[in-house]
Amino acid sequence: MRDARAKGRENMAILVTGAAGFIGAHVCRALLALGERVVGIDSLNAYYPVALKQARLAGLVGNSPDFRFFHGDFAEAGQLQAAIAGESIDRIVHLGAQAGVRHSIEAPREYGHSNLIGHLELLELARELGVRHFVYASSSSVYGDTSALPFSAESRADHPVSLYAATKKANELMTESYAHLFRFPATSLRFFTVYGPWGRPDMALWRFAEQLFAGQPLPIFNGGHMRRDFTYIDDIVAGVLAALARPPADDGAVKPGGSRSPHAVYNLGNDQPAALGDLVGILSEAAGITPILDYQPMQPGDVTVTWADIGPARRDLGYAPATPLAVGVPRFVSWYRGYTGV
Ligand SMILES: NC(=O)c1ccc[n+]([C@@H]2O[C@H](COP(=O)([O-])OP(=O)(O)OC[C@H]3O[C@@H](n4cnc5c(N)ncnc54)[C@H](O)[C@@H]3O)[C@@H](O)[C@H]2O)c1
Repeated sequence: MRDARAKGRENMAILVTGAAGFIGAHVCRALLALGERVVGIDSLNAYYPVALKQARLAGLVGNSPDFRFFHGDFAEAGQLQAAIAGESIDRIVHLGAQAGVRHSIEAPREYGHSNLIGHLELLELARELGVRHFVYASSSSVYGDTSALPFSAESRADHPVSLYAATKKANELMTESYAHLFRFPATSLRFFTVYGPWGRPDMALWRFAEQLFAGQPLPIFNGGHMRRDFTYIDDIVAGVLAALARPPADDGAVKPGGSRSPHAVYNLGNDQPAALGDLVGILSEAAGITPILDYQPMQPGDVTVTWADIGPARRDLGYAPATPLAVGVPRFVSWYRGYTGV
C-alpha cells in the first residue's frame, strides 16, 4: 500500500510561483535537489532588474530536466492553467508577489493585482486541484509598528502601516476562508527580512553594498536604530521545505495563528534583531571599506523593529535558523562581488 502510494506520487509536481524571485529561485533549487518535479511561474516584472531574475532562472532551467518554467502572470487564470498544463500538481508554494514596502506607496495597484487578485487565483487553483498543501509567503510587516516583542502569530495584527502589509494580512484572511470552506491544508510563512546570495536589489543590504562599493554615502534612517530580524536565505529555505512536508491536520485543534481549520501561521525569522548600524558595520568590514554615513529621518511605511517569535516553528517544523549576520553578510558580499564584478 505504501509503495503504491509512493508510486502514485512519482509524477506529481509542485507549483512554485515567483520562481525567478529571490526566495522562489532558492526554493526551486532545493526542491529539485530533493528529487521533486517543479513547475515555476514568474512574470519577470521590472520592479528590479530583469537580468537578475533571468540569471537566477538560468541556474534552474539549464540544470534540471525536472524543472519547467512558464513566463506568465499568475493573476490571470488562463495563464496559470497554461503553466500547469499536462502536469499533476499536488502542492503549491506561492512565493510570487509584488514585494517592497515603500513601492506600495507609489504603485498600490501593482499590489492589488499580484497580491490580492493573484492570491485569489492561487487559492482557486488550490481548491480546484484539491492540493495536499498550499504554502504561501506572508511577511513580518503584518505586525505593523507594535510594541509587543517578539512578534507572535497569536497577537493581533490589524494595524498595517503600508498597503504591502495590508495585502499580506489580506492573503491570510482569504486563505483562512478557503481552508475553512474547502478544507485543504494551508500554511502561511511570515518571513523576516531575508538576505543572502541572489538577493533583492531593493533591500537594505544590497543597497548598502552598492553604495559602499561605489564610494557613495549610505543613507542611515532613524539614526541607525532601526532593528531587523535579518534571516539568511538558507535558513528560510529550510523552513519552507520543513513547512511543506508538514501540512496542518484537519482535526479541529487550534493551529498556530488561531485557526480551527487546517491553516497554520508561522514566523520564519532569526530571533536575533540587529540594528541597521550593526549591519553596516559587518558589511563594511566584509567589504574592507570605511563607509560614509548619511543620517536621515525614518521613512514612511517603515517600522522601527521586527523580531520573530519562532517558538511554534521550532516546535512544529523543527525550524532552527543557524546563520548569524557575521556569517551570512560575508557570504553575501563574496557572492555580490562575483555577480557584479566589483
Ligand atoms: N525577501 C524578504 O525579505 C521577504 C520578507 C517578507 C516577505 N517576503 C515575501 O516572500 C515572497 C518572495 O519574496 P522575494 O524576496 O523572493 O521577492 P521577489 O520580488 O524577488 O520575488 C517575487 C517574484 O514574483 C514575481 N511576480 C510578481 N507578481 C507576479 C505575477 N502577477 N505573476 C507572476 N509572477 C509575479 C516577480 O517577478 C518576482 O520575480 C513574496 O511574497 C514577498 O512578499 C519576502
